[in-house]
Amino acid sequence: MKNKFIFLSSCLLSAMLLFSCKDNSKDSDEKTPEVTAQSDTDFRPNFHFTPQSGWMNDPNGMFFYNGYFHLYFQHYPDDNIWGPMHWGHAISTDMITWKEQPIALEPDDKGYIFSGSAVVDNNNTSGFGQEGKVPVIAMFTYHDPKGEEAGEIDYQSQAIAYSLDEGKTFTKYEGNPVIENPGIRDFRDPKITRDEVHDQWVMVLSADDKTMFYTSQNLKDWELASEFGRGIGAHGGVWECPDFIQMKVEGTDEKKWVLIQSLNPGGFNGGSGTQYFVGDFDGKTFTLDESMADLGEDHHYWIDFGKDNYAGVTWANIPEENGRHLFMGWMSNWQYANEVPTETWRSAMTIARELKLEKNDNGYLITSVPAKELKNYRSLSYQEENIKIEGETKLIDSSRIDLARAEIRFNISDIKDTNYKFRLSNSKGDELVFGYNHSKKEFYLDRSAAGQTDFSKDFANKVSTAPRISESEDLSGIIILDKTSIELFFDEGETVITEIFFPNFPWEQLSVMAEGGDFTLDNLEAYQLNFN
Ligand code: FRU
Repeated sequence: MKNKFIFLSSCLLSAMLLFSCKDNSKDSDEKTPEVTAQSDTDFRPNFHFTPQSGWMNDPNGMFFYNGYFHLYFQHYPDDNIWGPMHWGHAISTDMITWKEQPIALEPDDKGYIFSGSAVVDNNNTSGFGQEGKVPVIAMFTYHDPKGEEAGEIDYQSQAIAYSLDEGKTFTKYEGNPVIENPGIRDFRDPKITRDEVHDQWVMVLSADDKTMFYTSQNLKDWELASEFGRGIGAHGGVWECPDFIQMKVEGTDEKKWVLIQSLNPGGFNGGSGTQYFVGDFDGKTFTLDESMADLGEDHHYWIDFGKDNYAGVTWANIPEENGRHLFMGWMSNWQYANEVPTETWRSAMTIARELKLEKNDNGYLITSVPAKELKNYRSLSYQEENIKIEGETKLIDSSRIDLARAEIRFNISDIKDTNYKFRLSNSKGDELVFGYNHSKKEFYLDRSAAGQTDFSKDFANKVSTAPRISESEDLSGIIILDKTSIELFFDEGETVITEIFFPNFPWEQLSVMAEGGDFTLDNLEAYQLNFN
């Protein structure tokens, strides 16, 4: 597999190419004035988090404290491509609108600051607390580029830093690294969880093609407890960015442990993707639930089936009385993240989502829906019932609801063996097509004609698909639209598809049709979201 971290030498070349691309596109604009190539600002989302400038990838160190959700992120402030990693920082009171903060962690002579997590150490188990100040402990991977260049394999190790000002600034621990590299090339992305049952901290770490479980009493001394994953689930690439959470099964008192595990490549629709495993944890070893026994490559346990939700993890320290599992992912894919057509910044995060663990006759299932805080931004709205769909029928026009900041909900009852096809379109001829083919029990999303695609051969070479998991006779959907992204939550979040796109002009209408017949759309709710 091509190692994406050997980038620096190609940075200059890419930057030069970028500039020449920019000039070319200007030239071609002049020749074809009918197509309005959207500029950088036109592509910047209305409400999904983006860095003010420079490159961003994985969300890191997410915790909640004193009324604020903290989001750190893999960040290269000096260019719009991946480079020496820092932790950028943003805060929010509701996970929807964010305020970017000064950079929290910078690379040093031990290496770049790769992905990791943070927890609020309320009982000062680490001893870093002083004068009654509650410490926040961040754990991250040091990636030593010199070791990598020299052809060594032990250039990734785990380190900690502490903050005594609620996550604004961090001091790196003098005893770093706290976990040395044991001779594993891909050894990274520590995610810490509090395990109240066994009164310990648990940390999961990705190591090549498996997850390693470590335990600690003080967040400084870590002991290897077990490993999980070899030969289980999808293994098309390296495992990265795990998360490990205890979840209550909806409607019961049963609790299970869930391991969320990203991998790249090998995602359901190619490139980066995030699968999950449900099981039990005895304080040392994670055991897969028997309903998932013999889990092969070709399973349906994916947090999101779309191409653009990667390295997502959950917020730590969500108060018990709130009790939600709140998740956010990076809305891109390593196949093309460095090439998408934005210039002053690159990449956005997904909308914050609530994860739930459901149980049905076939076993366990994680569902995700937009965090309920998004509803507070609804402004213009309309609702219609029993809409007769005869041929392709317009549902929403951009003069009514801005389709670049919209939440749309629909229900179709008693679904037939046909293809329910939704189409977003504009007067420049771009279209984004998605829907559900009930004869194949398959959802799909096709961005091949949705504007700019030729920056990467992997961006729109295939229609993305996702299996229908629900067996219900009724179909429901939530569509979250921003300028350059769509997030589809079908069947109350049982099947989710997130993808980005770069249209030549904003979407002007949303229409729907069923192949070979008319039908009734039982309910349509559409909201314009306002953010100022
Ligand atoms: C995932 C990842 C992590 C790594 C980080 C580097 O996208 O490859 O494994 O820590 O990005 O930026």
